[in-house]
Amino acid sequence: MTALSATAPGKIILFGEHAVVYGQPAIAVPVSIVQARAVISAIPAAPNGQVRLIAPDIHLDSLIDELPDDHPLVLAILLTAGHLGAQRLPAMQVHLSSSIPLAGGFGSSAATAIAIIRAVSAFLGRPLSNDIVSELAYRVERRQHGNPSGIDNTVVAFEQPVYFVRGQPFETLIAARPFTLVIGDSGVQSSTAAVVADVQRLHQADPESIDRAFTAIGDIVRQARGYIQAGMIDNLGELMNHNQRLLKELTISSPELDLLVEAALANGAMGAKLSGGGRGGNMIALVSPQTASRVERALIAAGAVHTWITTVAPILGPTEGLGNANNPSSGFPEIRRFIDYG
Ligand code: MEV
Repeated sequence: MTALSATAPGKIILFGEHAVVYGQPAIAVPVSIVQARAVISAIPAAPNGQVRLIAPDIHLDSLIDELPDDHPLVLAILLTAGHLGAQRLPAMQVHLSSSIPLAGGFGSSAATAIAIIRAVSAFLGRPLSNDIVSELAYRVERRQHGNPSGIDNTVVAFEQPVYFVRGQPFETLIAARPFTLVIGDSGVQSSTAAVVADVQRLHQADPESIDRAFTAIGDIVRQARGYIQAGMIDNLGELMNHNQRLLKELTISSPELDLLVEAALANGAMGAKLSGGGRGGNMIALVSPQTASRVERALIAAGAVHTWITTVAPILGPTEGLGNANNPSSGFPEIRRFIDYG
């Protein structure tokens, strides 16, 4: 049976999470060492319109008719079909798997939506542009998260480091020199939607001081953009620490994340901060290639349940996006200027 697969990477936010919801800039990079994959195969004997959705990671195996229309995975399928004007889907099975930790700051919801959107559109013979993929994924994110800034679907769909301001075209961020990050997973699952809603309550209660913190974060992001573009990587560490202090003031950190940040800094990291929604999930530490494994060991000793080393680098080359299930590296038509390699 012919099968078709599409993947989407995870992401990390380097600077500017939460403030980006309020119009400040943020910087995010794709992380392709973790991925969501959707594999679609035809079910020849089944009637048209019968779509079976299998996602073992969340113990799901159902026909989409038996699930609510606003289930995020169903919504990704229906929005794609709707966008393409497909009245009735061919009988098919959508199998979703992912190495992206759930609710961990890696953008797993955007990645799963994007893998599905790409796979379904390709299966229908009309692969969609990254712009449209990102837009459809944003609509799925809105249903899940209420008030997403759009940074997650953008960085995951375009698979490029981005300097992002809500409501504006994003800029691809070109790093003049590569830099290495250790990512530490606190193992605490945290709902981005819930933290965003809490921050909104804080903002309503004291708009002036919360806006001051957001403005300070925006300044950090603008400086970071300059340092990344100029290859002044050593200067990023202090900016990460400053961003983390502000996130802590905004109650977005957690004791587990604080411990990991301290452990990274005590073991040679140039800077460290939480990444993404916060209150759990991931933190990131800026390291030299020489200190990376020491920082990794320190994070594990301080309670991280998983670590990854990733390098953000300006390199030429294709990354896997869409391909045949039996030969997943075949066929994605784009050459991207940047990929992240772990
Ligand atoms: C989540 O990855 C980033 C947040 O800023 C939320 C958003 O931008 O939608 C916390």
